[in-house]
Amino acid sequence: MQQNNRAQFATRLGVVAVTVGSAVGLGNIWRFPYEAGVNGGGAFLLLNLFFVFVIGVPVMCAEFVIGRHTGSNVRSAFRRLAPGSAWSLVGYIGITASILILSFYSVVAGWTMEYIYRSLTDFCGIRSATALHDRFDTFASSNWRPVMWTLLFLLCNYAILARGVEKGIEKVSNILMPLLFIILIAFCINSLFMPDAGKGLSFLFRPDFSQLTPKSVLSAMGQAFFSLSLGLGCLITYASYFSRRTPLMKTAFLTASLDSFVAIMAGVIIFPAVFTYGKEPAAGPKLVFEVLPAIFAEMPLGALWSTLFFLLLFLASLTSTISMSEISIACMCDDLGMKRRNATRLNIGIAMAFGTLCALSFGCLGGVRVFGMTLFNLFDYVSSNVLLPLGGMLISIFAGWRLNHAVLKGELDATSRGGRIFLRILIFCMRYVAPPCILIVFLAGIGVL
Ligand code: PFF
Repeated sequence: MQQNNRAQFATRLGVVAVTVGSAVGLGNIWRFPYEAGVNGGGAFLLLNLFFVFVIGVPVMCAEFVIGRHTGSNVRSAFRRLAPGSAWSLVGYIGITASILILSFYSVVAGWTMEYIYRSLTDFCGIRSATALHDRFDTFASSNWRPVMWTLLFLLCNYAILARGVEKGIEKVSNILMPLLFIILIAFCINSLFMPDAGKGLSFLFRPDFSQLTPKSVLSAMGQAFFSLSLGLGCLITYASYFSRRTPLMKTAFLTASLDSFVAIMAGVIIFPAVFTYGKEPAAGPKLVFEVLPAIFAEMPLGALWSTLFFLLLFLASLTSTISMSEISIACMCDDLGMKRRNATRLNIGIAMAFGTLCALSFGCLGGVRVFGMTLFNLFDYVSSNVLLPLGGMLISIFAGWRLNHAVLKGELDATSRGGRIFLRILIFCMRYVAPPCILIVFLAGIGVL
């Protein structure tokens, strides 16, 4: 069913780099530590790992199968597999979620740019928790700097996306991902030697289930979807560029493992510092931006480390945002016949408008609340905790129940004995575990159950 003239990622390493590049980003290094901080640490981590491997991996395989088999973007994939049905709605859910995420994500990526700039120009080694807090607040609530960085970040996206799949996306990911791993390991080692490392590690690894509420279970599931880039068709789109030789199950498992590993590393970096510098683990979205500068201030050559870290965080965000944008760009090019450059312009233009609103929600639009949330929090909540789980549930039902079974097995192609056992478990989870589990957690999380 695959289309012949479609672009393809050139190498297997490239496939892993782009998929891991999409998964690893602010979700692991910025969002995971603060969500874990707000939701009680160890118990959140355990739940998150459960959702990643029991629900995330099957949904990821489902997305891979649908994408590679059809060789289509998220909208036409469902139209081709289930013509004339309501399944193409899944495509629209994905496109909406991708724009919402791109908008608030670009604001945080913009913050990383501010911190790169500061590290280079006026690194002053502040250690005091209050001073770091004030510094971040003054910046984030100002009316032009965060907007400027958000727009600049989106322009960087444009520069890569307009170049296309192989020359832009694959090349950039191949270089950046290995570099990110190396630097994270260096920071982990540094954090392990901090005076209160033990407290930080026990917060992260010792589960205290009494802290968990249905809301935090929903957050752990939302985090798994967000972090693995699942439920919005990002991986359907990427898999449409995979070659027939790409082993889907292995790629899914490897991506989920590396992604979780990075999130845990981020926790190991942040929580020892949180306790050492007397910060609150439940500080919310600012956590990383208020805690990490304190670590850098302690380190020899702090300005250099700080620049390097925020640079890599910025680049990791970039490999994630290009994957979100690709969802709607592929639809516009394939289905509306738009030129890639124009489709990219439209996508980035829309994100610039919404991104500006999100950036200002820490400043002059702070008073604008919808369901009690600022626009930034609303975009995050609706996409991660509503649209992604909903999309993931539908994708899992579609692949498990509606898609031809021979196609599913053929695409997942298990050759060894172990592979066949794994395939059986995977299909079982896709059919019987993921859909009801997502539904129950979702309904309980929003207070309906
Ligand atoms: N997985 C990315 C992260 O953890 O930062 C975020 C993301 C990328 C979400 C791509 C959705 C997506 F389509």
